[in-house]
Amino acid sequence: MQDDLVGRAAHRADITARAERQMAAIGVDPAFIDRLVETFYGRIQSHANLGPVFESRLSGRWPEHLTKMKAFWASVGFKNGAYGGKPVQAHHGIAGVTEGLFIEWLVLFRQTLVDMEATEEAQAWFMATAERIARSLVLALFYNPALDDPARRAQPSG
Ligand code: HEM
Repeated sequence: MQDDLVGRAAHRADITARAERQMAAIGVDPAFIDRLVETFYGRIQSHANLGPVFESRLSGRWPEHLTKMKAFWASVGFKNGAYGGKPVQAHHGIAGVTEGLFIEWLVLFRQTLVDMEATEEAQAWFMATAERIARSLVLALFYNPALDDPARRAQPSG
């Protein structure tokens, strides 16, 4: 039992160490993630369309949001389990959020990575990850599977 737990902890530590090496090789360390999150959400706040939508939900809670987003990106990048939230639930019911805003979010994220002179590989990694999550959030928020139910489709007339 004890050996099992020790073995599992060692295995997790190996996975994290490998992920940290892989991220370091493309120029990403915890300090880069902190800087990226601070720069990106600073830009979000002054963005004409994204700013008010975030502010309506996060007014007075920005420091906690940034801490959570740093943990989120560290968790994905370094596989260290730092984040354990529920992103889909968190995005439900945000006033004014549209599918088009997700595109604007991704454009701003890419521009931030370019301006921070992230390596090509880091840009590719962050964008692939963000696009994957954006796609699943858009599906969860705006596409109702019930609408694709053939039983609910209008019968062709004539
Ligand atoms: C237009 C696009 C987006 C808007 C307006 C938006 C807005 C928000 C807001 C307001 C919150 C805070 C929710 C709360 O604490 O009450 C949040 C949390 C979060 N967002 Fe987004 N978001 C967008 C896109 C994305 C994308 C593309 C990602 C993927 C990288 C993402 C990842 C997250 C995560 C991980 C959280 C923390 C969820 C938790 O509480 O555990 N968001 N978002």
